[in-house]
Amino acid sequence: MIVQAPGTYHHSHMVGTLAESACAAIGADSLFARVACYFHDIGKMKKSGYFIENMPIGEDRHAILSPSMSALIIVSHVKDGIELAKEHKLPQKIIDIIPQHQGTKLISYFFNKAKENENKDLHVADEREFRYPGPKPQTREAGVILLADTIEAATRALKDRSPARLEEVVRNMINKNFIDGQLDECELTLKDLHVIGKSFVRILMGIYHKRIEYPPDAQELQARAQVQRVEDENGGSNADKYNQQTPISSESLSDSLKGAKNSSKHLRPVGGGKSGN
Ligand SMILES: [Fe+2]
Ligand SMILES: [Fe+2]
Repeated sequence: MIVQAPGTYHHSHMVGTLAESACAAIGADSLFARVACYFHDIGKMKKSGYFIENMPIGEDRHAILSPSMSALIIVSHVKDGIELAKEHKLPQKIIDIIPQHQGTKLISYFFNKAKENENKDLHVADEREFRYPGPKPQTREAGVILLADTIEAATRALKDRSPARLEEVVRNMINKNFIDGQLDECELTLKDLHVIGKSFVRILMGIYHKRIEYPPDAQELQARAQVQRVEDENGGSNADKYNQQTPISSESLSDSLKGAKNSSKHLRPVGGGKSGN
């Protein structure tokens, strides 16, 4: 999958992390949830280029298709996934998650596009043509996976990933799926939904946190001073270049030192910069 559909591969791992954590928080089977997430979108491998996470930037294969044709292709990843899972003899519990992770959700992007384009005299866009076939999630784990799947995709598209915005999106997505009836057939309680939401936010904040720039440590300052000294002696620009390369990385440090070392016989090597950040 990482070769054929790299975006889907990464998405599946992220959904697995979200679902595992939320299932653990409500006492559901967290290991099963993670494993099931690895397989939930295997059907996308068949037409991988039609799924947004695998499309090269600037390319949209749906641009030349009608909204209903696009919806058909998107929906087909469920059927293709079930077939592939059966072919490879995956356990029935895992196969069940493949259709249930989508439930009977509406593919709203293409439905709205069809609504915009419809000619009311000839053809009215029918919502049923733009919904997944189901069934809806039948277990708590399937319910969590449906939510994790939606939320991973929604937060990935965000420009603002501040904690407040992440919380808002998680809350909206849970409410939207609840109101749409996607969680009607699984046994998640309102209390569970609250705990699941909190767990998702905690994981998402860990994934999308902003790093603060580290102040230079003593070794770093020593390296900078040595580079500066060489620059003073030779009138070059390596020190300026070095100072612009933040946050500090071992590569930038060793490159700068390499350049400086070549230009001076007085400079003694200094150990690598901060690593493992
Ligand atoms: Fe999917
Ligand atoms: Fe997915």
